[in-house]
Amino acid sequence: MAAMAVRAFCSPRRPLRSDAFLLLVLFLVSVSCSTSEPQGFCAVGYESDCGLSSEKILIKGGTVVNAHRKEVADVYIEDGIVVSVRPNIKVGDHVKIIDATGKYVMPGGIDPHTHLEMEFMETVTIDDFFTGQAAALAGGTTMHIDFVIPVNGNLTAGFESYMNKAKKAVMDYGFHMAITKWDEGVSKDMELMVNEHGINSFKFFMAYKGSLMISDELLLQGLQKCKSLGAIAMVHAENGDAVAEGQKRMIDLGITGPEGHALSRPPVLEGEATARAIRLANFVNTPLYVVHVMSIDAMEEIAKARKAGQRVIGEPVASGLILDDSWLWHPDYTTAAKYVMSPPIRTSGHDKALQAALSTGVLQLVGTDHCAFNSTQKALGSDDFRKIPNGVNGIEERMHLIWDKMVESGQMTVTDYVRVTSTECAKVFNIYPRKGAILEGSDADIIILNPNASFKIAAASHHSRSDTNVYEGAKGKGKVEVTISHGRVVYEDGKLKVAPGSGRYIRMPPFGYLFDGIEKADAAYFASLNAPIQRTKSAA
Ligand code: URP
Ligand code: ZN
Ligand code: ZN
Repeated sequence: MAAMAVRAFCSPRRPLRSDAFLLLVLFLVSVSCSTSEPQGFCAVGYESDCGLSSEKILIKGGTVVNAHRKEVADVYIEDGIVVSVRPNIKVGDHVKIIDATGKYVMPGGIDPHTHLEMEFMETVTIDDFFTGQAAALAGGTTMHIDFVIPVNGNLTAGFESYMNKAKKAVMDYGFHMAITKWDEGVSKDMELMVNEHGINSFKFFMAYKGSLMISDELLLQGLQKCKSLGAIAMVHAENGDAVAEGQKRMIDLGITGPEGHALSRPPVLEGEATARAIRLANFVNTPLYVVHVMSIDAMEEIAKARKAGQRVIGEPVASGLILDDSWLWHPDYTTAAKYVMSPPIRTSGHDKALQAALSTGVLQLVGTDHCAFNSTQKALGSDDFRKIPNGVNGIEERMHLIWDKMVESGQMTVTDYVRVTSTECAKVFNIYPRKGAILEGSDADIIILNPNASFKIAAASHHSRSDTNVYEGAKGKGKVEVTISHGRVVYEDGKLKVAPGSGRYIRMPPFGYLFDGIEKADAAYFASLNAPIQRTKSAA
């Protein structure tokens, strides 16, 4: 593990905390360093200089990439905000100068899909809001949107619990909210979440029978409620009843290992649920966001709907774009089990089709579904694949993997890379151009990527708490060398400088661009009904 150097903390742009809280922070960090789970980011703090709270940075001579254009320009940052983007900016003293000549200066990644410190399948994901976010920053992601899981169906309790978990945040984050049951209280709480708490998206699990799964009836009610609130409905699209049947079939056949996971929930079940959710969203006339699109079957349903003019967003994740399911047949249980996630990683061919769909705009943005468990947790299912906690890592690896697989290979332009890793997420969740862009007035969440440097992924050097990595040994070109979060250099020269509590909760307003004109389509629909017909009752 890297040498530890805990220094004095300050929280830029916030009043100094009380000594008691500082001590607590130091304690928390000391613990995380001394227990040695998180690796490589023990150099925590701000160089003991609280003056860094108003860090001024000039990034010189790089190619600044936004989703709409790229240009060689300087970027000047002050107080966490991009002040100027143009060639040859002149500055005075006390400004940190970073030479980005020959490198790309891009908006920090936004990961739309993570699960930090989530209670799930009899355990809790291994990365919390400190280790998960530190890992994200080391990999060039500066914001993520995590899924709040209600407590016994209660949204407010769930929200409070996640706000509490996020107290140790080191970068900006927002929340989606899962809906796991339906009653008047849930419906009212959805209003509260949108109007008071800055949540503009709700996720419906069509799988995980017996825990998170909802019925079609609930999905319909949820879609209608989302529409009325200007909130995006998201679905985990797998047919949960059929998955349960498929699992039973495998167990009856004596298939209890990780390969049984993939065999029990084939692509057709993902395609079926995706089609069903799309049709119900069409019936309600509300936008739909399909999370973790893992198969050709699901992707083609999205393509078809979009071609017909329906507002459907498809989110592939790094694992589905990069990996194939052969790992699940690995003779070593620990190796095979780390690839168990839902929907499953598919056979070779699905990955390439998803890449093509991403590069041609059929799918719009890339997440990770970072939901990491260590090998001890994965061992919970060593005699029954149904008990293996579902989830893989990716929050640290996404930006590098997508660069290498899509841009370095020539499948995607640099501007499209920015779109799928950052800008589209900011647009869909209505926080653009504060996030997802390097424009005057945007938050200074910026990465500098050297296209000539290379990366290598290994559990021994990653920043997640997990002892395994599904991308173990992966190498590629393009390396994030600097990460700037909220105007502070938090990752440079391979070292992280992060402070628990410095991350901010980002409120996301409702009625983003996906809702533009929805009411006009509704009006056209009502006009087309040509009903009710006024009939005269004939005399008997
Ligand atoms: O296997 C997965 N995907 N775990 C996280 C929960 C979910 O379905 O997103
Ligand atoms: Zn899911
Ligand atoms: Zn997920």
